[in-house]
Amino acid sequence: MTCRSTTGVSAPGRRVAGVGVLHASPSTAPDQPSDLEAVLADVTDRSRHLADEGEVEEQPEELPSAESARFALALAELDGTEHVTGDADVGFAIQSVVKVFTLTAALQLVGEELFDRVGREPSGDPFNSLIQLEHEKGHPRNPFINAGALLVCDVLMDAADDAFAAVAGLLGDLVGEEATVNDTALDAERESASVNRAMGHLMQSFGNIHHPVDEVVEVYLRLCSVTVTTRTLARAARFLANDGVDPRTGAPVLSEPLARRVNALMLTCGTYDAAGQFAYDLGFPCKSGVAGAVMGDVPGRFGVCAWSPPLDEKGNSRAGRAALHLLSERLGLSLL
Ligand code: DON
Repeated sequence: MTCRSTTGVSAPGRRVAGVGVLHASPSTAPDQPSDLEAVLADVTDRSRHLADEGEVEEQPEELPSAESARFALALAELDGTEHVTGDADVGFAIQSVVKVFTLTAALQLVGEELFDRVGREPSGDPFNSLIQLEHEKGHPRNPFINAGALLVCDVLMDAADDAFAAVAGLLGDLVGEEATVNDTALDAERESASVNRAMGHLMQSFGNIHHPVDEVVEVYLRLCSVTVTTRTLARAARFLANDGVDPRTGAPVLSEPLARRVNALMLTCGTYDAAGQFAYDLGFPCKSGVAGAVMGDVPGRFGVCAWSPPLDEKGNSRAGRAALHLLSERLGLSLL
C-alpha cells in the first residue's frame, strides 16, 4: 500500500463482512477528514476480497488489469494531496469513464446545444442496448450510454480539428501527463465493435450521425483505449468537485453551471441501469467503465476512483462499488 501523510488514527471499526452488510448506523457520526488515510486503508481491507469474484471483461494480456485480483482506491483532494491504496499506479484502459471527458470537451465547444441531439435521461437499459435507440428514433437517452458517446464523438468531429486530440488533450491537462493509447487494447476494441457500429448506423439512418460511422467508432474506440490509473482518474475528476475549475492549474474547464450539469448526469446516468442504486448507496456522482474503474467526485472536497476488474451483472466493478459505498458511509459523502 502506498499512502501519503498519515495524520489520523484508525476510526472505530464497524463489522462489515460483505456488500450486504455495509450499512452504518444513521446515528453514527461520519469519520473526520483527518482520518482519511485510516479510512481508506480500512475500506480497502473490507472490500478488496470482492476483487476475486465476478466476471472480468476480457483485457489484452499486456495490460496488467487482465488479472482479476487487482484492487485500488485513490482520493485526490483539491489542494493536491493524494491518498491511495493497493494498485493505484497500475495502468488500465479508461473504457467508458472517458465519456465524462468526451462530454466535457463537447460542452466546452458547443455548449448545451449538444442536447439537441442527445438526451439527459437515465436509460434503465444496458449501456449497449439497440432496442431503446430504435424506439427513440436514433436519439440516445444520455451521453454516457454507448450510443450517446458515439453521438458526442460525432459532434466533436465537427466542433474540433481533431476530436480524439480534444478529449485526450483535456484528460492530459487534468492529469498533468500526456494521455496515450494502448494499441493492444485498441486492437481488441476494434475486434468487438459490431454493436457499436450497429448503433452508429442506426443513428445515421435517423439522420443523427453526420460522419462516416467507421470514423466515428474509431474515435470512440481510441478514446476508450487511453491508459489511465486509479490515481490519475481521481485527479482528473477534481474539476467537477471544484465548480469546473481545474485545481491543479487554476484553468477553467467548464462554467460552474455546466460542471454541475455533468455531475447531475453522472449521478443519474453514470452507472447505467444501476444508477439509481449507486445514488441510493453512494449519493455522489460517479462514472464506471468495463475495465473496472468507478470515478467520482464529491463537490467541494475531492475526486475519487476505485478500481477492480471483476464486474457485476450490470457491468460495474463489484469491489469498486462496495469500496465507494463504504467510503461514502464512513465519510458521510452522500449529497442527498
Ligand atoms: O463500447 C465498448 O464496447 C467499450 N469499449 C466501452 C464499454 C464500457 O466501458 C461501457 N461500460 N461500462
